[in-house]
Order: sequence, then structure tokens, then C-alpha cells
Amino acid sequence: MRLPTSRDPRCPFDPPAELRGLPPMSRLEFADGHLGWLATTAEAARTVLGDRRFSARRELKHAPVRFTTPGETGRPAPPGFFGAMDPPEHTRYRRLLIGQFTVRRMRLLEPRIERIAADHLDAMAAAGPPVDLVSAYALPIPSMVICELLGVPYEDHEFFQDRSLRLVAAGGDVARATADLAAYLGELVGRKRAVPGDDLISGLTADLTDEELVNVAMILLVAGHETTANMLALGVFALLETGTPYEEGAVEELLRWLSIVQLGAPSRAATQDVEVAGTLVRAGETVALSLPVVNRDPAVFERPDVLARPYGGPQAPVVRARRAPVPRPAARQDRAAHRLRRAVRALPRAAAGRPAGSGAAQAGRRRVRGRLPARDLGLITGWRAG
Ligand code: HEM
Repeated sequence: MRLPTSRDPRCPFDPPAELRGLPPMSRLEFADGHLGWLATTAEAARTVLGDRRFSARRELKHAPVRFTTPGETGRPAPPGFFGAMDPPEHTRYRRLLIGQFTVRRMRLLEPRIERIAADHLDAMAAAGPPVDLVSAYALPIPSMVICELLGVPYEDHEFFQDRSLRLVAAGGDVARATADLAAYLGELVGRKRAVPGDDLISGLTADLTDEELVNVAMILLVAGHETTANMLALGVFALLETGTPYEEGAVEELLRWLSIVQLGAPSRAATQDVEVAGTLVRAGETVALSLPVVNRDPAVFERPDVLARPYGGPQAPVVRARRAPVPRPAARQDRAAHRLRRAVRALPRAAAGRPAGSGAAQAGRRRVRGRLPARDLGLITGWRAG
């Protein structure tokens, strides 16, 4: 079996039909012909992500689909690209980063994030219907928040925004945008060393080299931009489409239901023979996870395909391994919840005060839906299915 890279536009939120009802571990042919595995149950996913005999090093892994972004596979991760490293290197970076996501800094960031969100909602309301949630809200907000986190000065926001958008735009020149951003971040690191501010880069200058700092900043941008943008746009769309109200716990349930990260990520390479859910994985074989299928595992969720309410029950996302995104889940969730709540509340207003079922809102939904085939499966930024 090869990994499907598109899905039925009639039910865009559901995992591809070919991947449902498979055994916990199925043979998967990777893009380069490697014969590895696809894990599709919560039990198998937990084993793969939690067992130290599995490695995240990208030089050991095979890519489940062909990615066109240069340098994504095959070579060892450069200094600072800790997502593709194992302990103890991974642990060192992770500890340093967690130390930067302090309660104090999050409190400082919160009003700025609220302002960014409010300004975008006001601009949407002022522009009037129809509104394109993707370009007016979901795409710009995460990169602006990352600007705040990294301490990108206000006068550079436009450049940073432009290059981050090119990084995620379908057909964008990813290599060029990456090079521009890396050069910019290199300069920024120099400026922060000279005149430190109250930001993540300044907070890490004592512990990391310039190269490490640039790469850590890049990884935050790459990992945080398109994921959050997809979550915001698809989350709002899913609530409107299913007629589900926004309530406490919706973000967790939407994370489960939408999964966001698709196309066989995360993946790990076995460094020894390991048994996973009754299947022997040989040393050297790569196991890719299908998060959308894992998050709909009927052994864990009573009604896996339903966006379930009340929220906050046992329907939380299954995969929260020790590599969960660095910003502590609670803080991240609060911020996502806040933005999502504001967007959902503001939408009818943006649709000229008409309720979600009105013609204007429906037209808006069609526009959002229109983006889905182009975006294909929600991708992690920079990983392009070729
Ligand atoms: C809805 C939004 C997001 C989703 C669905 C998501 C999903 C994921 C997943 C599944 C992983 C695990 C990858 C693996 O173990 O191989 C991961 C790792 C990571 N994410 Fe995210 N992420 C999101 C937002 C963010 C944001 C906003 C940031 C930072 C600004 C971020 C930074 C990271 C980093 C640094 C890692 C690597 C962690 C490590 O290796 O220890 N993510 N993310």
C-alpha cells in the first residue's frame, strides 16, 4: 500500500477511506521504495512514539510521500533542528526551549496576541462580506504571533509576514523564502546579542550558537505557522459546517477530529527489532503514523467520526507524546481557544450580521471549502507532497 495524498472532497474532514479498518500495523511502501509500516491505532502509535528504540533522526527515516522541499530527508539535522534528533541532543534543546515559555512571558504575550486577533477581526468586519478566513485571519495571525515570540521588531513584520506566507503558499518558492528568512534571522540574532530584548531569541543567546539560534527560530516558524493556520481555518469551518456551537473543550476535540498533521507524520525509524501491537518491526524499518486514523480509533472513542459534545470527555487527542509541541499544551490550547472563540463569535458579524446558515455565510463557507482541494491534506509547513 502507498499513502493516499488526497481525500474525498465530499467529506474532507474524514481520513481517506482506504486507511480505515486496517490492522494496527500495515505494510507501507515509502516514496523511495522502502518497505516500512503504517500505524493506525492508538496503541501502536503510543508504542512507536514512546519507545526509545525508535528514532526521530531523519537520516534514519524514509519519507512516506515525496517531499519537494530541499533538505527535508536523508541528511542529519543541522544544529538546532531538534525535532529530528534523539536524546540527549533533543533533550538539551527541548529543556532550553521550555525554559523560554515561562508564565511571565506568556502573560506579556497574551495582550499582544489579543490585539493582533482583534485588529484582524475588525479589518474583516470593515471589509464586509464575503470574507476569506484563510487569507484574512488564519494565515497572517500565526506568523505575527511568532514575530512577537521571537522579538521581530515591528518595522520588519511586513518582510517576515511576506516570506512566511511564501513558505506556505501553494506553488510558492519555498527554497527562496527559507533562504531569505534564514538570512534575516541571522541578522536578528546578531542584533539580539548586541541589544537583548524580552523575547525568546534574546533568552537563548547565552546557551546557543548563532547557527543553533537561527535554526531553532526557523523550526518554530515552520512547525507553528501552517499547523496553526490550518487549525484556525478548518476549526472554524468544521464548527460552521456541522452546526456545532463553540464551547469549552472545543479546541481539544477539534484537534482530535481534524488531526491537522497528515501524510504519515510523525514517523520514526526502528534502531532495533521492536514488537508493535503484535507485529515485528525490524531494525532499519520506518514506521509512519496516520494521525487522522489514530485519532478516530474506535477502541478509544465511542463515536470516533462525530465531533463529540460535551467537550472534554474521553475524546481528547490520543497522541500527546513526550514530543508534544514545545509551548506547554495548556498555554497553547488557551491561545488557540481564545483565537478560535473570537473568530467564531465574529464570523456572523463578518457575514453582515446574518446567521451562519444565511446565504452570505454559506458563500463564505464555499470559499473556505474551495481552498481545500488546493491545500490537499493539511500539511506541516514546508513539507510538500510532490
Ligand atoms: C494546531 C497546531 C499544531 C499541531 C497540530 C502540531 C502538531 C505537532 C506534532 C504532531 C508534533 C510531533 C512531531 C514528532 O514527534 O515527530 C509537533 C512537534 C513540534 N511542534 Fe507542533 N503543532 C502545532 C503547533 C505548533 C506551534 C504553534 C509551535 C511553535 C510555535 C510548534 C512547535 C513544535 C515543535 C518545536 C515540535 C518539535 C517538538 C520536539 O521534537 O520535541 N507546534 N507538533
